[in-house]
Amino acid sequence: MTNNPFAELALNLPPIAMQFFVIAMILLVIISTGLDMLHKKNVVYFFRNAKKAKKSAKINLSLGKKTGVILKTVAHDIATTSELGMGKRRIAHVLGMYGTIMFWIASVVLIFKYTDGTNAPSYITLIWHIGAILTCLGGYWFWFFLRVDVSAEAHPWYRIITADLFVLALLACATFGLAWSYTQTSGMVGLSYFFLFLYFISNLVLFGGVYWSKFAHMFYKPGAAIQKNLAEADGSRDNLPPPADAPEQFGLGIKREQPKHY
Ligand code: HEM
Repeated sequence: MTNNPFAELALNLPPIAMQFFVIAMILLVIISTGLDMLHKKNVVYFFRNAKKAKKSAKINLSLGKKTGVILKTVAHDIATTSELGMGKRRIAHVLGMYGTIMFWIASVVLIFKYTDGTNAPSYITLIWHIGAILTCLGGYWFWFFLRVDVSAEAHPWYRIITADLFVLALLACATFGLAWSYTQTSGMVGLSYFFLFLYFISNLVLFGGVYWSKFAHMFYKPGAAIQKNLAEADGSRDNLPPPADAPEQFGLGIKREQPKHY
C-alpha cells in the first residue's frame, strides 16, 4: 500500500517516458471523443434540441438560478449517479467511478511528482491502491452479477461483446496495476515485469479504444443530466408533455417479479 511502483520503474525507465505516455493517453481520449462526436453527430443533435426546447421555455432562468440547477445536478445526479436508482447497480457504479478517479489522479501525481527520487507521501500511494481496489470491487460486481445480459437475459458471465470493451479494459488496468505493485514489493522481478507489460497493454486498450467503447459516457452523461434539469426548471421539458394529472395506473404487471427464473 505504501509502494510507489512508478518510482521503482524509474530506476530502469526515464520518468519522461512515463510522463509522455500519460500525455499521449489524455490526447487519445480528447481526439477519440471528438471523432466520436463527429461520427455520431450526438452533440449537434443535443444543442439543436436544446435550442428548440428553449423556444418553449415558460420561465426565463436568471444566471443565478441556472448556476443553482447546475450545481445541484453535479452534487446529486452526477456525483451519486442518481439515474441508476437506489439499488446495487448504483452502489457498484459509485464504487467503480470514485475508485477510477482516485486511481487516475494518484497515478498522475506519482508519475509527475515522485519519479525523481523523492519519496511519495504514503497517503498518495494509499489512494492509488485503494482506488484500484474500489474499481475492482465495483467493476467485478457489475461484470459477474449486474450486467443486463447476465442478470436479465441469462447469458453466461464469460460471453464477451464489443460493448464490454470499456469495463473489461478498466478492470484489466486496475487488476494488473495491483498485481504489478504486489509482485514488485515481494521481489518477484520476472512476474512484476510480466504484470507491468499487461498493465501497459490494458491502458493502451482502455484509452486507445475510446472511439469504440463506452468510455465517453463519463462526459456525455453529465451534459445530458444538466440539460434535462435546466429544461425541467425553465418549463420547456425538452418539448415533452407534462405528467398526466391523473392517478398512475400501470396495471398489476408493474408489481411482477424481475425476470430471473431461467
Ligand atoms: C470516472 C468516471 C466513470 C467511470 C469510471 C464509469 C464507469 C462505468 C462502467 C465501467 C460502466 C459499465 C459499462 C457497461 O455497461 O459495460 C458504467 C455504466 C454506466 N455509467 Fe458510468 N462511469 C463514470 C462516470 C459516469 C457518470 C458521471 C455517469 C452519470 C452522470 C455515469 C452513468 C452511467 C450509467 C447510467 C451506466 C449504465 C449502468 C448499468 O447499466 O448498470 N457514469 N460506468
